[in-house]
Amino acid sequence: MNILVTGGAGYIGSIVAQELIQAGHEVLVFDSLLRGHRAAVPKEATFVRGDLLDQEALAKLFEEHDFFAVMHFAALIESGESMEKPALYLRNNALGSLNLLEAAVTQGVARFVLSSTADVYGIPVRERILENDPLQPINPYGESKLLVERMLAWFERIHGLRYAALRYFNAAGATPQRGEDHRPESHLIPRVLQVALGQRDHLEIYGTDYPTPDGTCIRDYIHVLDLAQAHILALGALEERSGIYNLGNGHGYSVKEVIETARRVTGHPIPTVERPRRPGDAPIKIASAEKIERELGWQPRYPHLESILESAWRWHQANPQGYPE
Ligand SMILES: NC(=O)c1ccc[n+]([C@@H]2O[C@H](COP(=O)([O-])OP(=O)(O)OC[C@H]3O[C@@H](n4cnc5c(N)ncnc54)[C@H](O)[C@@H]3O)[C@@H](O)[C@H]2O)c1
Repeated sequence: MNILVTGGAGYIGSIVAQELIQAGHEVLVFDSLLRGHRAAVPKEATFVRGDLLDQEALAKLFEEHDFFAVMHFAALIESGESMEKPALYLRNNALGSLNLLEAAVTQGVARFVLSSTADVYGIPVRERILENDPLQPINPYGESKLLVERMLAWFERIHGLRYAALRYFNAAGATPQRGEDHRPESHLIPRVLQVALGQRDHLEIYGTDYPTPDGTCIRDYIHVLDLAQAHILALGALEERSGIYNLGNGHGYSVKEVIETARRVTGHPIPTVERPRRPGDAPIKIASAEKIERELGWQPRYPHLESILESAWRWHQANPQGYPE
């Protein structure tokens, strides 16, 4: 099947693109390279450089190619940055997605998988978040994704689009060929590993007085290959129905536990410096992944933090400066 992967030069999109190719699909990557890397795009994929805000480019893309489905990863992803530049985030993520959806349905493409986020929930109301918990984003990034989820529901109702919205928790880990290289890097695991590589003197811990056992925030880390597997299952399930699913392991690890595990995996002492809390960080964010397990038969292959960190460490050691371009 011919699949359009937007954001396929980014961390998750490039790895899912590779897994799709391995599963026998044809892949076209559409990415502006605003944040991604040309070198991350799988060689077997067709690459088109373009921006979701360019409606003409999208119309041409869908006229020239007969896509079976769209997997939509392209977005700006920094919740902190979105608190400084809300218009940038709402325009790029919400308007960009609307342009993409319009171009897709105009050409009769009826299957769509969205990279959504746990940030659509805002502050969780229970320890393991369920899909029908309140949707109250606390930053424009989360709001932009929630807007896209709502668009999808309308496009389903009016145009018959089938969609899956996958609400990822914290994506992490690597394959031998591809890993996490955000610039600047705000995610915990690559930042910890940059300390182990000697590229940072220490790791900053933001908040040690949260109501958690060790005082640091707790997050649910999911291996990027387990995310990829969920995309392939979600695509298959679109033949039957649309769906919204959490994607996490259902286990939480505190910042201090991540650092401890990284010390074991890398053998580096990883010095830390404690800083005050950052606004908008929820103390605990853990997925209930029961729905995707039950409905799609998804099972994580790499649920343990240690194996997630090991895969990331191998990639960072092999690529200490990240991608060449
Ligand atoms: N990384 C995570 O832990 C995480 C968690 C939850 C959700 N997500 C979602 O997963 C998706 C992928 O995240 P990632 O970590 O791979 O991010 P990333 O920044 O590595 O990749 C995003 C890609 O989208 C491209 N892009 C952005 N705006 C574009 C536009 N207007 N037109 C064309 N291309 C554009 C960028 O150039 C980049 O290559 C995002 O939608 C993000 O919101 C990620």
